[in-house]
Amino acid sequence: MIESSEPMFAPSDDLRMVSPEYSTADVDAELSLRPKSLDEYIGQDKAKDNLRIYIAAARQRKESLDHVLLYGPPGLGKTTLSGIIAREMGVNLRVTSGPSIEKQGDLVALLTNLSEGDVLFIDEIHRLSRNIEEILYPAMEDFAVDIIIGKGPSARSIRLDLPHFTLVGATTRSGQLSAPLRDRFGVLLRLELYTPEQLAQIVLRSASILGIEIDREGALEIASRSRGTPRIANRLLKRVRDIAQIEFDGRITERIASVALSRFEIDQLGLDDFDRRMLSVIIEKYNGGPVGLDTLAAAVGEESVTLEDVYEPYLMQIGFLNRTSRGRCATKAAYEHLGLPYLVSEEKSSVQQSLLS
Ligand code: ADE
Repeated sequence: MIESSEPMFAPSDDLRMVSPEYSTADVDAELSLRPKSLDEYIGQDKAKDNLRIYIAAARQRKESLDHVLLYGPPGLGKTTLSGIIAREMGVNLRVTSGPSIEKQGDLVALLTNLSEGDVLFIDEIHRLSRNIEEILYPAMEDFAVDIIIGKGPSARSIRLDLPHFTLVGATTRSGQLSAPLRDRFGVLLRLELYTPEQLAQIVLRSASILGIEIDREGALEIASRSRGTPRIANRLLKRVRDIAQIEFDGRITERIASVALSRFEIDQLGLDDFDRRMLSVIIEKYNGGPVGLDTLAAAVGEESVTLEDVYEPYLMQIGFLNRTSRGRCATKAAYEHLGLPYLVSEEKSSVQQSLLS
């Protein structure tokens, strides 16, 4: 059973079609498309294989699963996996997020309402404030919370026992978690961007659930423009369906997917206007880099954390961007993709040499 305390997600009304962030339009779609078991879940084989073993072992011992930290770029299925963990353990899932826990009391109320074995999912766990995080330490380690009763000299602390629960934390930035919190997770699972083949399987599965007619090539076309992210693939599938339905015969083929996606200005590799602008700024304004993250963020009018979490992982995965100690650099492949001449200055050449060595 899934029970949501607080807003289950924090959807944004993002207009960018290839944003991996959650938008209000994704809510219904994601709920119906979400796989419910590890067998249904496509991709993330390493995380899945590990989870299978840990879940089987905990079930055999009749214990709760150790606390799990899921980390990686947005849109890869962290919330989905937490639901699968709860279901495979045969327990309830409670969902909340770091920014929605404002006071220590909010978290104490959540913890004291858990039942034995429950999974508590905290999305964006790196955004918990330090004083709230401190409630989690004894909760995770000793299954207890310390609460202060009264005020002033008569105040005293009492310890409340909690049921044995599993905390599943999700974060796009494991480096931002404090060491005491990170160390209390027994299982750390890194989620990776999906390959086009895995995304095509996801698109075919989603199409069959939604009753959309699509062939393998059509699915692969959508998949290869989805930046390694199922959330984007499912969103593009629905937008391509609209065009296939109104302007063609409803069936999605490679050609129809390609026509539709080009109309959305999503190119062959899934880059949208913003990605192309960011790369052109590095190339044209900073001679290909290195350019510091904060300087680049100011130049493109976006927050540094958004560049790091949302835009850069895919650009690095496809080999268009390098992160160096001196800043961001566009690669030769990025120049070629944008049709810009690649001129290597002496400084850049030395940065690239040091990257290769
Ligand atoms: N829908 C979204 N993510 C999925 C996944 N990893 N496997 C199957 N269907 C999905």
